[in-house]
Amino acid sequence: MCGIVGYIGHRLAQPVLLNSLGKLEYRGYDSCGIAVAERSLEVTKAVGRVVELSRLVAKGSATAGIGHTRWATHGAVTTANAHPHIDCRGRIAVVHNGIIENYLELRAALERDGHRFVSETDTEVLPHLIEKYYREGRLEEAVGLAVKCLVGSYAIIVIAAGSKSLVAARRDSPLVIGLGDRENFVASDVSAMLDYTDRVVYLEDGDICRVTADDVFIANSGTTVSRKVQVVPWTAEQVQKGGYEHFMLKEIHEQPKAVSETLAGRISVIEPAVTLDIEAPANPRNIVLTACGSSYHAALIGELLLTRLARVRARAVIASEFEQVEPTLDSDWVIAITQSGETADTLRATKKARAAGCATLAVVNVQGSTATRLCDDTLFVRAGPEVSVAATKTFIAQVVAMYLLALSRGTIDRKAETDLINELKLIPAYLSRLLDRESDIAQHGAYLARFTDIFFVARGINYPVALEGALKTKEISYVHAEAHPAGELKHGPFALLGPNMPVVALAPKDETYSLMQSSMKEIKARGSPVIAVVDEGDSDMEQVADYVIKVPAVQPLLSPILNTVVVQLISYYIAKTRGCPIDRPANLAKSVTVL
Ligand code: G6P
Repeated sequence: MCGIVGYIGHRLAQPVLLNSLGKLEYRGYDSCGIAVAERSLEVTKAVGRVVELSRLVAKGSATAGIGHTRWATHGAVTTANAHPHIDCRGRIAVVHNGIIENYLELRAALERDGHRFVSETDTEVLPHLIEKYYREGRLEEAVGLAVKCLVGSYAIIVIAAGSKSLVAARRDSPLVIGLGDRENFVASDVSAMLDYTDRVVYLEDGDICRVTADDVFIANSGTTVSRKVQVVPWTAEQVQKGGYEHFMLKEIHEQPKAVSETLAGRISVIEPAVTLDIEAPANPRNIVLTACGSSYHAALIGELLLTRLARVRARAVIASEFEQVEPTLDSDWVIAITQSGETADTLRATKKARAAGCATLAVVNVQGSTATRLCDDTLFVRAGPEVSVAATKTFIAQVVAMYLLALSRGTIDRKAETDLINELKLIPAYLSRLLDRESDIAQHGAYLARFTDIFFVARGINYPVALEGALKTKEISYVHAEAHPAGELKHGPFALLGPNMPVVALAPKDETYSLMQSSMKEIKARGSPVIAVVDEGDSDMEQVADYVIKVPAVQPLLSPILNTVVVQLISYYIAKTRGCPIDRPANLAKSVTVL
């Protein structure tokens, strides 16, 4: 998991590369490096963040170069393993995102031919392979021959000493070209180039591309191809912190806007009804929602909503388990939920679904991402760019997309449907009201920060929110957290209850409320401190819980949206109190493009 970038144009390459790498750090940040080319190549690498690298970079006059920010997969975090990697003569440099599965055999063969390797990475075979095929001035051809030898996934950018172009290629890893005025860019994603351009071209699998300062040439299977130029609907300001201490907090506060955007134009005004402009089977018998991480929790909410509201059989399947579970046996519509649109497990599951003849829909935040091109159609969640590794506004937007999907099937009682849609429209206002109570929730987060273990419990549609709370807490505060359906506690987790195991209980006034009350009494009886998240106006829970957090009372089915904000803020303030690097948690990356 890494971020790669290339620049060629009229500016000095080093500052552009360093700036762009900073924007890609969310993809990996254990080490980084750049190579700039004039008559010779100059390579600088560092263990640590881009700021560390920028201290080492000597001033230069090169106007072309490539860069990489790494999240180690093959080989430890060392300068030698950091990219760019170079060939024996130091004439060719390569940055790579992906995994070359057959690198050991390629490396053995190259070593037999006299190539000397200096790193433990899979990537290093690439500059040597390219060197093997390279004839002066014909870099593109050499890259084409080299990638033919590879098994696995790659997005690569290659530069050669003395060359007036970059060469890029992709298979199963994202790569986008940015078009500027007398300058062009290549990167893993658009955030790396938004400071310079919003005109982009997304490369397809098998594309090999030569980029000069003035032009871009793309070929696939030996034939020249043209790809559509798209305008990115995001601005450079959106990927800055805007006065917040962390991107995560900024993105939590952007949720009212994110929800408004997700809803925009999808609810008719006069007669409230949801209309989605997507290609979908008219009467799907079985729907499978597949996803990873937070997106999987949105899928669990989707499962329940589709079943309850649309009366369609639906099930959520973790994407990395998709093949084992074989959900395609009885499903006709597979919905892949992925904010990035690039998660390798989710893409693999989607390909399996397509191969099995299922219709596919991508629920995605990133325009032009691989999932959007893989699926029959896309429902964009429109949360705007999300920088923090921990998903927040993209998760809320996915959840809202699940309500829209379920309601668009329009099969429940008309009055209930109208009420739900009308209240859904008010959610952005409710979210803003809840966010005004941030300091209250912050106190509870600070209190929880003293514990090493936390339980999140809920029933029904809020159980996925409990899962999300536990995931966020683990991810950013490194505190052990588990989520349980409250009714399951007595089947094992009870053994862990006691004064050192605080419990956050999500207890809106829905049909599970009295059972939640009983569960909480049982928890209290075993000595665990209880923080209950309840509806405004609920005074009963104050008798049961130690602390109470109140959220605007909405229709029970909509409560997950508001409760999500509470668990996000709790996890944020646990992490902040513990002094954790919130936006860049250890060992995690935002977009996981490896299986
Ligand atoms: C990573 C991120 C999670 C995210 C998951 C799925 O693990 O750290 O925050 O939920 O990937 O990502 P996707 O882009 O498919 O939603």
